[in-house]
Amino acid sequence: MITVTVLNEKGGVGKTTIAITVAAGLASRGKRVLLIDADAQGHASRALGLAKYPGLYDLLVRNADYSDVIQAIPSGKYGGIGESTLYLIGSNVETRHIANSISDAWLVDEKLEPLEALFDFCLIDTAPTPSLLHGAIYLATDFVLYPTLCEFWSFDGLAESLVHRRAVESVKQVKVAGIIPMRVRSNTLEHTENLRSLKERFGNLVWPIIPERIVWAEASTYQVPVFVQAPNSDASGHAWELVDRVEVLANG
Ligand SMILES: Nc1ncnc2c1ncn2[C@@H]1O[C@H](COP(=O)(O)OP(=O)(O)O)[C@@H](O)[C@H]1O
Ligand SMILES: [Mg+2]
Repeated sequence: MITVTVLNEKGGVGKTTIAITVAAGLASRGKRVLLIDADAQGHASRALGLAKYPGLYDLLVRNADYSDVIQAIPSGKYGGIGESTLYLIGSNVETRHIANSISDAWLVDEKLEPLEALFDFCLIDTAPTPSLLHGAIYLATDFVLYPTLCEFWSFDGLAESLVHRRAVESVKQVKVAGIIPMRVRSNTLEHTENLRSLKERFGNLVWPIIPERIVWAEASTYQVPVFVQAPNSDASGHAWELVDRVEVLANG
């Protein structure tokens, strides 16, 4: 199992969108995928049509059984066929209390260990506010994806996130898989200039842009991935490109 965490210490940059799209895309290709919602807002849970529930809290703090916290997402919801290969550990407001309730920084890693053989990918959607839970998630992570808007405060969130990654570097090798410019409006000078400086600074780490398209928001409204909402849209094309790139991370 490869664990990919989606992170940026800024809200509204597309973390949840990326996490659920990649998770659903991989699952619809038959990969066995575990999606972990680690944001108290529970949007990753809601985005695929499930209710919020304290799955992650129960697993980490109440030491609940896996079977009580892991839910299958019906394959019809994400464009899969046959038996579901997409599973969720959900979240609700209680996720906020996890950081105050755990003392073992390796807890997330330990809890994922028995699942290693059951899943091909684990996608983790995170909250914007840094906490001890983020540290514990880092220690369980193989690759990080950083979505960012091509705007000042998102770059600031990205910079902060990269600094915090460095803090755990001595104990755990976490690779930066890529930085994803989200909601880019290429017809604005602000976005094109900022994108240029992002590429200057990070080079090949910058993945292809995901342009601003209303179908992404519509997909949120209908609680399905964008390629289910609008399969023939160019947004779906961008989504599949993203899924391709994450899928090959498994090849090392
Ligand atoms: N490429 C895009 N074009 C238009 N809207 C987008 C795009 N990507 C994401 N969105 C919308 O932006 C909003 C914030 O995205 P979200 O994934 O919830 O961010 P975060 O999890 O970082 O807070 C959502 O309503 C989502 O539908
Ligand atoms: Mg989110």
